[in-house]
Amino acid sequence: FVERTLALIKPDCINKADEIETIILKQGFTILQKRRITLTAEQCSDFYSEHYGKKFFPSLVAFMTSAPIVAMILAKENAVQEWRDLIGPTNSNTAKETYPDSIRALYGTNEQKNAVHGSDSAVSAEREIRFYFPNCVVEPIPTGP
Ligand code: CMP
Repeated sequence: FVERTLALIKPDCINKADEIETIILKQGFTILQKRRITLTAEQCSDFYSEHYGKKFFPSLVAFMTSAPIVAMILAKENAVQEWRDLIGPTNSNTAKETYPDSIRALYGTNEQKNAVHGSDSAVSAEREIRFYFPNCVVEPIPTGP
């Protein structure tokens, strides 16, 4: 079934956004929504709250707020898994060794500057879509009294 996922193009690749979008479309995803924003530290901490307290958290926030990002809702059959397969492992150095055709291998630098983000599950995808595109949440049809 057709599913939605949330994709981010991170600050390290904001100048490659057009190239990365071309790859996304070529792989059969539909870009349902797209916006370019510069996150505040507060927004970024909120988005990555599951990583709060980790050693890399402060530098992750500094990185993600350093320049604009592009947020997109992608749609495709099995979109969550398909997008994660296309981006490759979190660490771009690992990606270069194991998935050389992945976006993180092609455009990322290391474990932090890894070019793109993808939701890790359908539940995360809905939360992350709501975070960047609050008007695009599909609400259930209310049932009668
Ligand atoms: P992402 O998939 O967006 O989710 C969390 C982000 O934190 C991750 O990509 C990286 O940008 C960053 N990250 C994850 N692990 C590390 C790490 N060990 N050191 C630095 N940054 C990391």
